[in-house]
Amino acid sequence: MRISDFETEHFFAKYEFSTPFQLCNSDCETISIAELLTMADVPMKNFGELSLGYTQSLGHPELREKIAGSYENVTAEDVIMLASPVEGIYLAARAVLEPADEVIVLTPAYDALVNVIEHIVGRANVHRWNFIAGKHQWELDIGQLKKLIHLKTKLIVVNFPHNPTGFLPSQAQMDQLAEIVEQNNLLLFCDEIYFGLVHSGTKPIKSAAEMTKRSIVLNGLSKTYGLPGLRTGWLVIRDRELRENIINWKSYTSICASAPSEFLAMAAWSVRQQLRDRSIALIEHNLNLADAFFQRWPQLFYWRRPMASSIALVRMDVPSVQAYATELAERAGILILPAISLGSDDQHMRMGFGRAAFGEALQQFEQYLHTQFN
Ligand SMILES: Cc1ncc(COP(=O)(O)O)c(C=O)c1O
Repeated sequence: MRISDFETEHFFAKYEFSTPFQLCNSDCETISIAELLTMADVPMKNFGELSLGYTQSLGHPELREKIAGSYENVTAEDVIMLASPVEGIYLAARAVLEPADEVIVLTPAYDALVNVIEHIVGRANVHRWNFIAGKHQWELDIGQLKKLIHLKTKLIVVNFPHNPTGFLPSQAQMDQLAEIVEQNNLLLFCDEIYFGLVHSGTKPIKSAAEMTKRSIVLNGLSKTYGLPGLRTGWLVIRDRELRENIINWKSYTSICASAPSEFLAMAAWSVRQQLRDRSIALIEHNLNLADAFFQRWPQLFYWRRPMASSIALVRMDVPSVQAYATELAERAGILILPAISLGSDDQHMRMGFGRAAFGEALQQFEQYLHTQFN
């Protein structure tokens, strides 16, 4: 049985390792194992001595305990470690949904948040809650969400901070969302993989796990902490029955996390503030470069500055951003992501600000633009 193409991953698979100048990565700058262990004060010898047996299927108890401690009202029991963050989307969708259930998804969205769900419940049963293109920023209309709720609605899927807009709701909007979920006996899947990447001037918000027991929260070390190669993720589920159902599904996908990843994830957790601060500093620096760049090209781009995360959704006035991105990758080795793969239109691209080489890539892009538009 086929599932819709995972267009974003296919695009990256084609170009990520062949284009030298990248402007659209969603992860932040990574570090080596040696750097991580030095930062965490863990002798390399300990890593070498790690045995390569199976690990505990729910994750190392100490790691689950520590992760739970970073949320209010969450215990280690509520935390399930995953073999990758994206696995959590599949497991939750499988455990929660039956064919013909209705689901509301905030769009545009990371492909898996729509495609896996459409595969299970049927395309006609997935209703899109669309972002509104405001003058300065992307905006959410809670009234639009309320109108989409019907008797058969089971689940609302959101992602905050949001890929690709970089939007973060206010705490008041999150409170409203939690209230809607509770009042209508729904479930909320909140993908928080960019949690903690909040830009200066934006107020941080609580995790959905702290706000309602009817939530399933996804997080991991890929984006905020710059460690996507570890493939470490986790779900927070406070409802016991739902959690057990998800744990059962996990026995069919990964069983447990890889031992080296778990070891390194524990080291990373001990220095997570440092890793996050490093990511935020890079993003703020690159956003300033982007501000200046977009000021120089007002006729070609419409820039809505992100409030949080490592990414932004930018309008580009060319006939097709998809065709332009392909030409740019193949002719100039410069990578932008056509946001049509994320369910946006063909006038938008996603940019990413978490990488150290962003400034150099932006310079290359600007030189290329001059050859075409000036
Ligand atoms: C919103 C969102 N959720 C989940 C994931 C999956 O993370 P990973 O690729 O580390 O499994 C991504 C990755 O891009 C993402 O953007």
